[in-house]
Amino acid sequence: MLIKRKSGIEIPSSEITSESLYKTRRQFIRGAGAIAAGSIMAACRPERVPPESAAAPTAAPATGGETVAESEVVQVASAQTDELGDPWNSFEDITSYNNYYEFTTDKEGVKGLSQNFKTDPWSIEVTGMVNNPGTFGMEDLLSKYDQEERVYRLRCVEAWSMVIPWQGFQLSKLLKEVDPTSNAKYVRFETLADPEQMPGLSSPWYNWPYVEGLTVEEAMHDLTLMATGIYGQSLLPQNGAPVRLVVPWKYGFKSIKSIVKIELTDEQPTSLWMAAAPNEYGFYSNVNPDVPHPRWSQASERRIGEFSRRETLKFNGYEEQVAHLYDGLDLRENF
Ligand code: MTE
Repeated sequence: MLIKRKSGIEIPSSEITSESLYKTRRQFIRGAGAIAAGSIMAACRPERVPPESAAAPTAAPATGGETVAESEVVQVASAQTDELGDPWNSFEDITSYNNYYEFTTDKEGVKGLSQNFKTDPWSIEVTGMVNNPGTFGMEDLLSKYDQEERVYRLRCVEAWSMVIPWQGFQLSKLLKEVDPTSNAKYVRFETLADPEQMPGLSSPWYNWPYVEGLTVEEAMHDLTLMATGIYGQSLLPQNGAPVRLVVPWKYGFKSIKSIVKIELTDEQPTSLWMAAAPNEYGFYSNVNPDVPHPRWSQASERRIGEFSRRETLKFNGYEEQVAHLYDGLDLRENF
């Protein structure tokens, strides 16, 4: 996991127009701020040394005339990989190959169909077993909570994966503010369901709206992110604008998009996928190479942009951070 606080990447989004420009600016800023960032990076320093080929950025000039010195580039090269040394997927990959069934089941069609999706104004209602329920506007969420950068692997249950540089805030911050009561055991999330804007909602196969759920402990975990951006830009509609969940140790379908409602409850939520195919999708849905999907193996995956398959890691490589959440739980039964 790579974590970086907002203070290190304060670049107005208007200045950021492309992936290469984002990377170049980021290299420059990280080079200059390497010491300041050190304390944050130390807690999640890569165990493996990134392969040189994966970590070879170009030393192109940044905007405003700054030139990135070679030493700075070398110093920050690993910032373009995840902590396992794998390079970020391109902005193009991340924003053109999407699952968002409210628009279409065609991954390459989501981008076009969602282009005019209205994400402003937007608010999230937080309700249920909480002492301070409330409705939070996007502006509040963006200004109240530090927007951090998190580089996470996303592993889809369909056995493809990507490495994505997100921005967002920890869900735990919002939950602490609403203050769950001691009876709250689960968090239920809901996506907007607007048939005027989302042609896929006419599909009778699914029980809309898209719903997902976590235990309160999972929702409070430091890795659980409310994502508001990718590559330094606000989220695009196809990725779940303006705000979506990212739970990197679970299959990608848990990372529900365009959230309008969060409810704290004492009942385990039934997700859209659990309702659609209970024998295929369970509540936990932790990435687990040892438990095949009933129709295919989960032992390996295809990283988008690569030719050969790679082994899938338990909990998508976040075992050390999250395995304790499941102590005493049979992960085959609780799939
Ligand atoms: N959220 C909603 N509301 N609708 C969806 O269809 N698809 C899920 C998840 N969140 C989905 C969703 C699935 S299956 C995956 S793999 C991820 O979003 C894909 O996220 P991405 O398109 O940003 O890569």
